Amino acid sequence: MTYSQKLQELEKRKRKAEEGGGPERLAKQHAAGKRSARERLELLLDPGSFIELDPFVTHRCTDFGMESQKILGDGVVTGYGTIAGRTIFLFSQDFTVFGGSLSGAHAAKICKVMDMALKVGAPIIGLNDSGGARIQEGVESLGGYAEIFWRNVQCSGVIPQISVILGPCAGGAVYSPAITDYIFMVEDSSYMFVTGPDVIKTVTHEDVSKEALGGASTHAEKSGVCHFVHPSEQACLEAVRKLVELLPSNNLDQTPLLTGSTLDPADRDCKAIAQLLPDSPNKPYDIRLLMADVFDDGNIMEVQSHYAQNIVVGFTRLAGQTVGVVGNQPAHLAGCLDIAASLKAARFVRFCDSFNIPLVTFVDVPGFLPGTAQEYGGIIKHGAKLLYAYAEATVPKLAVITRKAYGGAYDVMSSKHIRSDFNFAYPTAEIAVMGPEGAINILYRQEIQQAEKSGRVHEERNRLAQLYRDKFANPYKAAELGYIDGVILPEDTRRVLIQSLKVLSGKRERGPSRKHGNIPL
Ligand code: HXC
Repeated sequence: MTYSQKLQELEKRKRKAEEGGGPERLAKQHAAGKRSARERLELLLDPGSFIELDPFVTHRCTDFGMESQKILGDGVVTGYGTIAGRTIFLFSQDFTVFGGSLSGAHAAKICKVMDMALKVGAPIIGLNDSGGARIQEGVESLGGYAEIFWRNVQCSGVIPQISVILGPCAGGAVYSPAITDYIFMVEDSSYMFVTGPDVIKTVTHEDVSKEALGGASTHAEKSGVCHFVHPSEQACLEAVRKLVELLPSNNLDQTPLLTGSTLDPADRDCKAIAQLLPDSPNKPYDIRLLMADVFDDGNIMEVQSHYAQNIVVGFTRLAGQTVGVVGNQPAHLAGCLDIAASLKAARFVRFCDSFNIPLVTFVDVPGFLPGTAQEYGGIIKHGAKLLYAYAEATVPKLAVITRKAYGGAYDVMSSKHIRSDFNFAYPTAEIAVMGPEGAINILYRQEIQQAEKSGRVHEERNRLAQLYRDKFANPYKAAELGYIDGVILPEDTRRVLIQSLKVLSGKRERGPSRKHGNIPL
């Protein structure tokens, strides 16, 4: 072979690798409203930044006539590129090749980029679109999945891991995304389930559609498996870029910091909060509006916004620095903590702690949600997870009590006692063992019984509740004890938080030496 013939051979192989499963299958993919593996990478990465690895790898299985249709790349495009100039490792499954199913070689390609990402400390992003284990490869495929799962665990807390579901993701295949930090899904085209509708019908006689069982809205609203849901692949991949820009590349990296003259001024007043906080302690308000008034340009990338809406968690910036925000949401279930909210916030707090992202917590919580459903469901162990996560976190922790901080929930929500660094309260804060309604039933039982007899129970209850509020439900007892560091005006919130964060920039804290703690799973 001459040199030019060798070059032609290389070009021929490259073209073959780029072809994937061929034009017919690609047309089918487009007709289903889906993009190809490579088109997705182009959308996700900075233009021209993608460097492909292993394009000539092919499948090993020679049974079932597969030898004759050797397809280069084996159903997954892998490599690295940049997002906003930062290095990212990726894999993108190609549904046009054996339905994107996972073979031994396909898995080995994914493992190689995961190993590289871990070695250099860069995030790993997986674009999933696959029929699951390559049936013809049997146990080799199962072994391939387990190799990926093992690496997911090794990468956990070291580099951010993001899964984007852009088609089917079924069976055991769901467990890799489940271990990763964030799952993105697209409405009407992505779905995840351990067992599909047909198996369910056979085993339990239950009729359920693919969409209802494991579609994006199911996992965004009901199961909480999905963190971000978007109407199209394009919107979804744009959101992945946005998330990456907010996160550090690894656990030793500095928290991302935007600088420049266009930043939202650090010393501006928070003008909306005072109007937002209702006079009545039982009136709801939207904690997201309060957060928007505090953080840079009002921007918050909310995580799991459709799930456990009684707590709001998300990434935002304060004077250019990424922070994680957690806030009880009085507009939903009065901001009570329940099982779902505890799990949602605990995982978020642990992510932030793993990646040196400071935590800002807004507290307005009347307590844990009462009832048999919660007790039978294990609110004791699930609520303990949130407590554990806050107590374990060593990143800078700031908290602002806007209104209610009652009972055990006061302790859990980043209280000073579990080593929050700076805790503040508005003059409207009510810090007490329980709310006035419950407390007066216990403290003033005789007075209420007397009032019942004389027919003025309503007036008496109001009087006693007010008495209780004045005496117990205010921020000053906590302030006297040093449990909060200051009573601040709502308009000063941004200034106070930025100042506190600055002071904490040198915070270094280590827990006791141990293999790992035993979080109540
Ligand atoms: C080999 C597969 C495949 C698989 C699909 N294909 N899944 N090849 N192994 N698992 C091939 C098809 O033969 C077809 O090839 C092409 O991919 C496209 O598939 P279609 O069925 O035509 O596409 P569609 O109608 O869109 O249906 C997609 C699908 C369906 C819902 C994913 O293909 C399907 O149900 N596949 C099997 C899913 C499954 O049971 N997987 C195993 C799960 S268990 P041609 O040549 O015709 O284009 C599992 C265990 C993991 O994954 C365990 C980890 C611990």
